[in-house]
Amino acid sequence: MRIDVVSIFPEYLAPLRLSLLGRAQTDGILELEVHDLREFTSDRHRTVDDTPYGGGAGMVMKPEPWALALEAVLAAQTARRHPGQGDARQGDPRQSDPPTLIVPSPAGEVFTQSLAYELAEEPTLAFACGRYEGIDERVLEWAAPRFRVRPVSLGDYVLNGGEVAVMAMVEAIGRLLPGVVGNPESLVEESHSDGLLEYPVYTKPSSWRGLDVPEVLLSGNHGRIAKWRREQQLRRTASRRPELLEGVDASQFSGGEREVLRELGYGVDDSGRLARA
Ligand code: ADE
Repeated sequence: MRIDVVSIFPEYLAPLRLSLLGRAQTDGILELEVHDLREFTSDRHRTVDDTPYGGGAGMVMKPEPWALALEAVLAAQTARRHPGQGDARQGDPRQSDPPTLIVPSPAGEVFTQSLAYELAEEPTLAFACGRYEGIDERVLEWAAPRFRVRPVSLGDYVLNGGEVAVMAMVEAIGRLLPGVVGNPESLVEESHSDGLLEYPVYTKPSSWRGLDVPEVLLSGNHGRIAKWRREQQLRRTASRRPELLEGVDASQFSGGEREVLRELGYGVDDSGRLARA
């Protein structure tokens, strides 16, 4: 996968060169290009912002450098998405299969594990990091025929800019690429992979400061362990994120699991979905 990030703080993205994602880049699984928006300005001060039309606090990012930066990204990604077609499609606003452009914003759709899975299937992704009060809205309009534009929020809180959100999203997406996480099993049994939170985990010593590892995990009985872990997932999800269980198709749960869910206050409605009693 190729990922292009445009930011006025390219150094902010440096940690994406470390650890598993760093190795993915060395191994050729992930190609990450970070572009400095100021390289696409033409004035002496490398200006990227100006005052907002209509007044109000703060500054707005100017459209001109953004269009030039995104055109450069598009050119690089088109070659990657359509190898062997030369420059014929470069900048063609009518692309049938436009690359996805993620615009991190607290006003976007919320980033989830399911969106991470969806984006991990793409051959290329672009991220446009806004700062200040945001990017001139016309940039998104201009980009719409060229990219599949998706404003995406990390959650219901406000960051100073898109960079931290991009780090979170690129890590969540990058670790799903085949070969990035050594043991792919660990992607299966983690929080959100099946709509539930992960079960608690323990390691040696079995007794520590008066606290013992649950006996079942020392039993060697794989059936009992799997059942206990699933029950822990249900209990943890009901306690910490009850809304994740609401409306879920109940047929995926065994009789024993439904018994646990009943104890946790969930019944099954007429359409076979979980509902809090
Ligand atoms: N930029 C500022 N706040 C943000 C958020 N919550 N998610 C994504 N990008 C942002």
